[in-house]
Amino acid sequence: MANVVVVGTQWGDEGKGKIVDLLTEHADIVVRYQGGNNAGHTLVVQGQKFIFHLIPSGILHVGKKCLIGNGVVVDPEVLLMEIDRLKTQGLEVGPHNLVLSEKAHIIMPYHQRLDHARERAKGAGKIGTTGRGIGPCYEDKISRCGVRVVDLIDPETLKAKVEHNLKEKNFLLERFLEDAPLDAAEVYDRYRQMGEHLRPLVGNVSLLLAEAIRKGQNILFEGAQGTHLDIDHGTYPFVTSSNPVAGGACTGAGIGPGKLNRVLGISKAYTTRVGGGPFITEALDADGEHMQVQGAEFGSTTGRKRRTGWLDAVVLNDSVRLNGLTGFAITKLDVLTGLDPLKICVAYDLNGDRLQNVPASLSALEQCQPVYEELPGWQEDLTGKRRFEELPEEARRYLRRVEELTGIPIQIVSVGPDREETILLANPFTG
Ligand code: GDP
Ligand code: IMO
Ligand code: MG
Repeated sequence: MANVVVVGTQWGDEGKGKIVDLLTEHADIVVRYQGGNNAGHTLVVQGQKFIFHLIPSGILHVGKKCLIGNGVVVDPEVLLMEIDRLKTQGLEVGPHNLVLSEKAHIIMPYHQRLDHARERAKGAGKIGTTGRGIGPCYEDKISRCGVRVVDLIDPETLKAKVEHNLKEKNFLLERFLEDAPLDAAEVYDRYRQMGEHLRPLVGNVSLLLAEAIRKGQNILFEGAQGTHLDIDHGTYPFVTSSNPVAGGACTGAGIGPGKLNRVLGISKAYTTRVGGGPFITEALDADGEHMQVQGAEFGSTTGRKRRTGWLDAVVLNDSVRLNGLTGFAITKLDVLTGLDPLKICVAYDLNGDRLQNVPASLSALEQCQPVYEELPGWQEDLTGKRRFEELPEEARRYLRRVEELTGIPIQIVSVGPDREETILLANPFTG
C-alpha cells in the first residue's frame, strides 16, 4: 500500500492531469485537495480529449473512487456541468464514483464578481487571475463567513448566509468597485436548487480516506496549480490563493502527514506561465515561440496564450525542498525536438551575486538574470518512443542533467499528450 501526491513544480499546467490519469490504474482512490475550477487538467485517451476543472482526473477509470476534499473551492454550476458532460460521454457519475467533502467551500456569484472587479481596479498591475472567484472564496473561508457544502444543502443556513454576506459584498461592489449589486433571493434560490442536485454526492472525505488506508488501498492525491503559485511559497502576490504544495494534501483532504508516502513532482521539459508575474527564464524569441506553438501552449481554462521559456533548475530545486519530492515526471519532452542548443537555468544572477533559490522579494526577483548552461539538442520525433533507451542520446543527456541538478530521479517521461505516449521508468506506488 502506498499513497502518492502528484504536485506541479512550476506555475501550473505541467501535465498533472495526464500523469494522474496514467497512475490511476495503480490507485483505488483519487483526491483533489485544493484549488477550484481555476485548474484545467487535460487528458487524452485513445485520441479523445477530456478537460477536468473540478472532478479528479481519475474519473475515467471504472471502479475507482474520486474525492473532492475540503480544501477545494467548489463552483456548483461547474461541477454539475462536468457531471452532465461525462454523462453525455457515457460515463455515469454518482455516489459510487464521486464524493464531495461536506466541508469544502462554495464559490458564490459574488466571489466571481469581486474577482473580476478587483482585477479591473488593479489595471496594469493585475494578477491575471482566471476570474473564477477563487481568491475571494478563500478570503471568506479564512474570514469565517464562507458557505460550505453542508450549508449549501441546508436551506435555512444558506439563506441566512447569502443575506448576511450580500450586505457586505453589495456594499463593496456598488460603492467601491462600481459594479451592480446581486439579489439575495435570486442567489439563494439558484444555489439551493444546485445543492439539492449535489446532495447525494456529499460525504466525509477524511473518514473515507481513513477507511481506505485501513483496507490497505492506494490513494493518489491530485494537486492543482503548481508550487510557485502557492500562496505561501510562490511568487507572491502573483500566485493563487491555496497551497498546491504536497503539505496541502494533509489539510485539504483531512489526512495526517505520516500517511503520505511519496511525492511525484511534475515538470515540463521547459517552463510556462499564464497570467502576470516574474518569469526569469521567459524566452521572448523564436525559441519561446517554438515552445508555444509546438507545445500548443494555450490555457485549458481561459484559452489564454501561455508564456514560455527554458527549464529553470532554481525553480525546480525550491520545489524539491518545499514538497519533499521523491521523484519527477518530465512532460512534453517531445516539444523540445528541433531546438538546438537547449538551455537550463542553473542559478540567478542578482547584481553579481549567484542565487540558488527564488528570492522572496518581488523587486529582487525582478532584477534577477538567468545563468544558463547549454546542452546539445536533437532533431528526432520522440512521440513514438516508449523506452528510455530509444531516446536520442542528447535527450537522455538532458534528462540525466535534470536529475543531477535536482538530485531527484526521473520516474516518468511523457512524449505526447496521449496516455500511451509515456515512458515509465519506475512506478511511484512501488518504486
Ligand atoms: P495540468 O493543468 O498540469 O493538468 O496541465 P494542462 O492539461 O493544463 O496542460 C498540459 C497540456 O499539455 C495538455 O494540453 C496536455 O494534453 C498536454 N500534454 C501533456 N503531456 C504532454 C506531452 O508529453 N507532450 C505533449 N506534446 N503534450 C502533452
Ligand atoms: P492547473 O491546475 C496555470 C494562475 C492564474 C493567475 C494566478 C491566480 O491547470 O495547473 P486564480 O484564478 O487562481 O486566482 O489566478 O494563478 N493559475 C494557473 N495557472 N495553471 C493553473 O491550474 C492555474 N490556476 C491558477 O493564471 O496567474
Ligand atoms: Mg492546467
